[in-house]
Amino acid sequence: MIQVACRLDPVSSPSDWRHFHTLRRDILWTARGRTGYDENHPDDRRPDHHPLLLKCQDGPVGVVRLDDRRDGTGIVRLVAIAPDRRGQGLGRALGAGVEAKARGLNIDTLFVNAVPDAVGFYEAMDWERFCWDTSELVGDAANCVQMRKILRARS
Ligand SMILES: CC(C)(COP(=O)(O)OP(=O)(O)OC[C@H]1O[C@@H](n2cnc3c(N)ncnc32)[C@H](O)[C@@H]1OP(=O)(O)O)[C@@H](O)C(=O)NCCC(=O)NCCS
Repeated sequence: MIQVACRLDPVSSPSDWRHFHTLRRDILWTARGRTGYDENHPDDRRPDHHPLLLKCQDGPVGVVRLDDRRDGTGIVRLVAIAPDRRGQGLGRALGAGVEAKARGLNIDTLFVNAVPDAVGFYEAMDWERFCWDTSELVGDAANCVQMRKILRARS
């Protein structure tokens, strides 16, 4: 069930940043046994990188960052939905929001490094397996599956 009341907004206020980092740290670091989450990582503040927070009526429930490569492509990074809110269409709502944001930036193709457990989620949203940059598959991303979604055919 898609909750239409949810919005994918840019992370802007100090409160947004707190929620954004808490969700990311808890879901993508602590729950996976990773340490060293950096709230001040420069990649979150680059002008062409867009940290986004999925907000529902009862507060923030998901995070993602869209990195605009300024060549018509973008990378979807660090996707997470709060554990107690999964299976309700919120990941799909977040995906639709990212695609809308990407189209507004004239991005025609999205890429992702999907953890193996999330490949089915992306496939459900019509992403396809596609090797786009093997140099990304190092460290924590070594066993990720590279995928893409074409939003608009290039003329
Ligand atoms: C992956 C994740 C974002 C999915 O969020 P969600 O809110 O549960 O997703 P939705 O409820 O919107 O599901 C959307 C569709 O994907 C499918 N889906 C969701 N998770 C899936 C999975 N792990 N495997 C296969 N299909 C999956 C759902 O069945 C649904 O399909 P449908 O709409 O055709 O019925 C969430 O489980 C999560 O945050 N996981 C931990 C972090 C993570 O793995 N992030 C991805 C990093 S690349």
